[in-house]
Amino acid sequence: MTGTVPAVRPARPFFSSGPCAKRPGWTPDVLKDACLGRSHRSKHGKAKLKEAIDRTRKVLGVPADYRIGIVAGSDTGAVEMALWSLLGPRPVDVVAWESFGEDWVTDVLKQLKLKESRIIKAPYGRLPDLNETNPNHDIVFLWNGTTSGVRVPNGDWIKNDRQGLTICDATSAAFAMDMDWPKLDVATFSWQKALGSEGAHGMLVLGPRAAARLESHEPSWPMPKLFRMTKDKKLVQGIFEGETINTPSMLAVEDYLDALKWAESIGGLPALIARADANLKTLAQWVEKREWVDFLAEDPSTRSNTSVCLKIVDPWFSALSKDAQSAAAAKIASVLEKEGVAFDIGGYRAAPPGLRIWCGATVERSDIDKLTPWLDWAFALVKAS
Ligand SMILES: Cc1ncc(COP(=O)(O)O)c(C=O)c1O
Repeated sequence: MTGTVPAVRPARPFFSSGPCAKRPGWTPDVLKDACLGRSHRSKHGKAKLKEAIDRTRKVLGVPADYRIGIVAGSDTGAVEMALWSLLGPRPVDVVAWESFGEDWVTDVLKQLKLKESRIIKAPYGRLPDLNETNPNHDIVFLWNGTTSGVRVPNGDWIKNDRQGLTICDATSAAFAMDMDWPKLDVATFSWQKALGSEGAHGMLVLGPRAAARLESHEPSWPMPKLFRMTKDKKLVQGIFEGETINTPSMLAVEDYLDALKWAESIGGLPALIARADANLKTLAQWVEKREWVDFLAEDPSTRSNTSVCLKIVDPWFSALSKDAQSAAAAKIASVLEKEGVAFDIGGYRAAPPGLRIWCGATVERSDIDKLTPWLDWAFALVKAS
């Protein structure tokens, strides 16, 4: 018994966790004023880049004494620029509970080889004990674990009088969750996540204590030009005013500007958060009534409102081998993709087999609503086969 095919499809089947759905109403027309075929260092080009920084500050409420830079290599570039530039003088605590946190563990331990580092870990679905972090150490962590759908509930565990720096990869949290800026010395994110803009550049937000570290600490390892934020021990201020270190895509810049203007037009950060929360709530109400599916995040207070990860808890599924579980979850995702109902909702390759549904602000609640009967249908179909 596989049930009848649901009658209504989501209007926009875009539920990928990155690049994420474009904002409602987006068309390529929004790019018509892009500064194309011109130098990014022209007056016009620099003004566009500066506008991207200024609007980012406004929408996210980044404090006036924090610097915001547009850097190369999307979020990974921004995180690695921070790790390579800032780490060294203190022991490092790397907090990891899913795949991207593990990437930063690799950077700190295996690449930078920082011997005085600790890994504070939890398995998929859980958050480590954040109180294990030492305020005298530098702390590297994610605000939201994109591949497990587990986020930190807040920044209360970070001490105001810390001696170390906090370096936060916030790529799937920014524009969807309240960031506790005074607790963050560094935050990074990309453009293609919660605003559904184009992937290209990373955003590096630096608080005053991180800026002071940059001017007082010289890394013992070689620094590529792409990472260099200081000259003669002074911060290169231009980087934080739109003078990017290397050439950006002005087409991507224009698209990011459109996304920021849309965010402002709907009411800024509170409206973005409310939309993501409403999407999560819609999905949660459905999960509650289903026996076959549950959140991967065990504690509701750690449940992401962007990258919502679901595990399949039906006894039939649990009895399968790990490979067969992966194949079954992938089949559910591919059946839905074929139907044009949901694109890219397979769980992350390194995560426990399941589904991942992006619930950020660019997704319409009505589409989450329309998706849920299809999830039931696809599950029943795959189980029966
Ligand atoms: C938490 C987190 N960190 C880093 C990345 C890598 O981002 P990018 O591809 O923008 O470098 C992602 C991408 O999904 C992510 O979710």
